[in-house]
Amino acid sequence: MRLIKTKDYDDMSRKAAAIISSQVTLKPNSVLGLATGSTVEGLYEILAKEYEDGLLDFSDVTSINLDEYAGLAPDHDQSYDYFMSTNLFNKINIHRNNTYLPDGTADNMDEECRRYDSIIETFGPLDLQLLGLGHNGHIGFNEPADSFSKGTQYIKLTDETIKANSRFFNDESEVPRGAVTMGIGSIMKSKTALLCVSGSGKAEILKEVLEGPVKPQVPGSILQLHNDVIVIADADALKYVEI
Ligand code: GLP
Repeated sequence: MRLIKTKDYDDMSRKAAAIISSQVTLKPNSVLGLATGSTVEGLYEILAKEYEDGLLDFSDVTSINLDEYAGLAPDHDQSYDYFMSTNLFNKINIHRNNTYLPDGTADNMDEECRRYDSIIETFGPLDLQLLGLGHNGHIGFNEPADSFSKGTQYIKLTDETIKANSRFFNDESEVPRGAVTMGIGSIMKSKTALLCVSGSGKAEILKEVLEGPVKPQVPGSILQLHNDVIVIADADALKYVEI
């Protein structure tokens, strides 16, 4: 594991964006596993600016996102599809038909999970999987559980996650109760995993993820066993970790 401590959120965003830029520069047809959430907004902004400045070309890149809320159509302003369009895809030259997200509105969730697994199988293993961290240690939407998931799954969101994500909705009651998420097995097969964490609100869980026992009750702790994981976290998030 490579652990990089940054001054603050902006510094974390710059360093994470630099790793993704290098990945795309070194391998223009990279398969990127992408994430959503406030943690990655800053780094997407930097990547979009680099594209605008002619420094990056995404025309051969394929992206496979981690997750999507159940029940939200792509044009819903809180869907992860909408997040990706507005924060990144509409600002760079990636081909929209080379971008993949789970369909949160699928009638048959089991079929949707298998469909998504076959996409991951076709394009994978992911060259680089970007990850944020949930307040309860989730990665993607893989919530604390009794075992680690392998493939894509439909998941019932925990009350903690519903509460944490309610800041993006008008009201907690509007937060979807379920989601479709790439499995931990697929995340672990990525060639490189890049975990970004910011803020003191995640300091306790980050310490558990990095230093605690590897257990499905702290899903992110599995990353301790990843062959090539880079953690970029700011000083606030790392306040309980000796580095
Ligand atoms: C969300 C997403 C995750 C994200 C995490 C942290 O629920 N499903 O993919 O990494 O929670 O979000 P944020 O960066 O907004 O704190």
